[in-house]
Amino acid sequence: MTGYGMRLGHCHNFHDFRALAKRRLPAPIFNYIDGGADDEVTLRKNTASFERCDLVPNILRGVQAIDLSVSVMGQRLAMPVYCSPTALQRLFHHQGERAVAAAAAKFGTMFGVSSLGTVSLEELRKKHDNPQVYQFYFHRDRGLNRAMLQRAKEAGVNVLMLTVDSITGGNRERDLRTGFAIPFRLTLAGMLQFAIKPKWGIDYLTHEGFKLPQLDEHVDMSGGAMSIGRYFTEMLDPSMNWDDVADMVRQWGGQFCLKGVMSADDARRAAEIGCTGIVLSNHGGRQLDGSRTGFDQLSEVVDAVGDRIDVLMDGGIQRATHVLKALSLGAKAVGVGRYYLFPLAVAGEAGVDRALGLMRAELERAMKLMGCTSVSELSRKNIRFT
Ligand SMILES: Cc1cc2nc3c(=O)[nH]c(=O)nc-3n(C[C@H](O)[C@H](O)[C@H](O)COP(=O)(O)O)c2cc1C
Repeated sequence: MTGYGMRLGHCHNFHDFRALAKRRLPAPIFNYIDGGADDEVTLRKNTASFERCDLVPNILRGVQAIDLSVSVMGQRLAMPVYCSPTALQRLFHHQGERAVAAAAAKFGTMFGVSSLGTVSLEELRKKHDNPQVYQFYFHRDRGLNRAMLQRAKEAGVNVLMLTVDSITGGNRERDLRTGFAIPFRLTLAGMLQFAIKPKWGIDYLTHEGFKLPQLDEHVDMSGGAMSIGRYFTEMLDPSMNWDDVADMVRQWGGQFCLKGVMSADDARRAAEIGCTGIVLSNHGGRQLDGSRTGFDQLSEVVDAVGDRIDVLMDGGIQRATHVLKALSLGAKAVGVGRYYLFPLAVAGEAGVDRALGLMRAELERAMKLMGCTSVSELSRKNIRFT
C-alpha cells in the first residue's frame, strides 16, 4: 500500500517503512538515509547478494520453541540482529537515539551510538542496560582520541567499534544535488522540499535543539563554524594505520571491534592486534562504490579468523531470511541500518519497535521453516549458491 492512507500499522516490511518515510521526510533527509556513493552499485548489490543464495530447509525436527539468542563479543543478545550505529538520528525523528535504544532494549539486543550521534552516550547508558556500542572515528588530535575513549569507558560502554571504511567521505551525489549538509546548505530545490513537508519542520523546531553531544566539547558545530564535511576532512586522521589501532586496542582494554573490514588479510591483522570482533561492512554502500559486499566476503573471512574473533556483517539486510543466510555462513550476528532508520523516521520508538518485532517474528518463523531451534544449528549445509 502506498496511498495517503498508509500508516504504521500498514507497514509489514522494509519496503513499506521506506515508502512511508519517503512521504513523511523532506526529500533531502530521505535521500541522505536512502542514498549511497557514486552509482550506488554497492548499495544495490548489498541486498541482491542475498538473492544469489538459497536456503535448504530440513523437516520434521520438532520446532515448538525457538531460541534466537547469540553471544557476541562477550554480550548476550536475545536475537542475532543489532542496530548498527548511524549518525544524526534526531534529524530523522525528534526521539532519535532515545527511540532506537529503547526499542533495542525491549528486544534485548545491542545498539550503536555514533560519534555523530544526537543524544549523549551517557544518557543512553544510564537509561538502558542492553549492550551498547560506541562507534568511534579516529581524530588527528591524539589527546582528543584519548579523552573520548576515557569518556566512553567511564560511561560503561560495552563495545568500542572503530569505523575504518570512512578515511575520507564517500561521494554521495544525491546529497550534492539537494545540498544536504550539517549545518544545512540547501539548494533552492532542497529548500522547497522542506517547505512542502511542514510537519517535519514543526517537529524539528518544537523539540530540543539539534546537538552532537559526543563531539560538542571538542568541536564547535554551532553557527556554521564547523560542518560535518569539514569535520571529516580536517579533524579525522587519514594517516591512521595498524599501529595506531593497536595502541587504541591496548588503551581501551575491553571488547574492540573494527567496522568496515573486507579482506581476509585485514581480518587476520585485526585478530593479531587483539580486536575481539570485526564487522564486514561497506557502510551501507555509502563509501567505496564497487566494493564487495559483507555477505559475499563472509565465508572467506570466517575461514580465516572465525576461530579467533567474532565475525559480524552488515549491509542490505531487509529480511530474516537474509539474517539466516549470513548466520549459516558463520556470522555471529548482523547489523541493520536503514532497516530501523526508516521506521524511526515514520514513527519514532513505535516505528523501531514495530520493525524489530516484525524481524523477530520473521526470524522465529524462518527458523521453524528451516527446521532449526537454535542459531547454533545453522551451518553451510543449509545453503547453496545459485
Ligand atoms: C543514514 C546513515 C548514517 C550512518 N552513519 C554512520 C555512522 O555515523 N558511523 C558508522 O560507522 N556507520 C554509519 N552508517 C552505516 C551503518 O552503520 C551500517 O553500516 C549500514 O547502514 C548498513 O547497511 P544497511 O543500511 O543496508 O543496513 C550510516 C548509515 C546510514 C544509512
